[in-house]
Amino acid sequence: MKKREIANTEDIMELVNSFYDKVKADDVIGFIFNDVAKVDWSRHLPVMYDFWGSLLLGSGSYGRNVMDPHFKLNKLIPLEPVFFERWLQLFEATVNERFTGEKATQAISRARSIKGIMSFKMDQINHPEKGTDKNIPLVNPGHQQ
Ligand code: HEM
Repeated sequence: MKKREIANTEDIMELVNSFYDKVKADDVIGFIFNDVAKVDWSRHLPVMYDFWGSLLLGSGSYGRNVMDPHFKLNKLIPLEPVFFERWLQLFEATVNERFTGEKATQAISRARSIKGIMSFKMDQINHPEKGTDKNIPLVNPGHQQ
């Protein structure tokens, strides 16, 4: 397949559609979309065209909070780091299979950064015991007997 630049809404739609084709069929995260969230694709896909159109083409059509539905979903199934890793792998594979150029690079770097924040926040909620506080000694070592 000849790779091209991400230049317009049709390209965004192709990116989003082919990404979710992979997601739906995926052994690791497919069930979250298909069986847990039971995503209504006719509603979700246009939201995702707006999201990526806003990030990559400056369309300004996405004005919601990306974190909210994920906090809700995280109550149904803990969104563990392994799921986020897989999500990103599929996203990067989709971009790299079809697209090239500056916007393609941007798509991957934005996805990596949002994935990093989202994964970190979910992990804090799901595993509060991992928090850094635990590593702070209760007794100041300088004053130990
Ligand atoms: C384990 C990883 C992830 C899972 C399982 C997941 C799953 C979902 C689900 C089930 C929805 C709701 C669909 C609906 O409306 O029914 C959703 C919405 C969405 N996701 Fe994710 N997601 C993941 C990671 C990400 C990441 C890293 C991004 C950022 C690039 C992202 C961007 C979005 C956006 C923009 C929406 C639409 C939110 C809205 O309604 O405004 N997701 N996701």
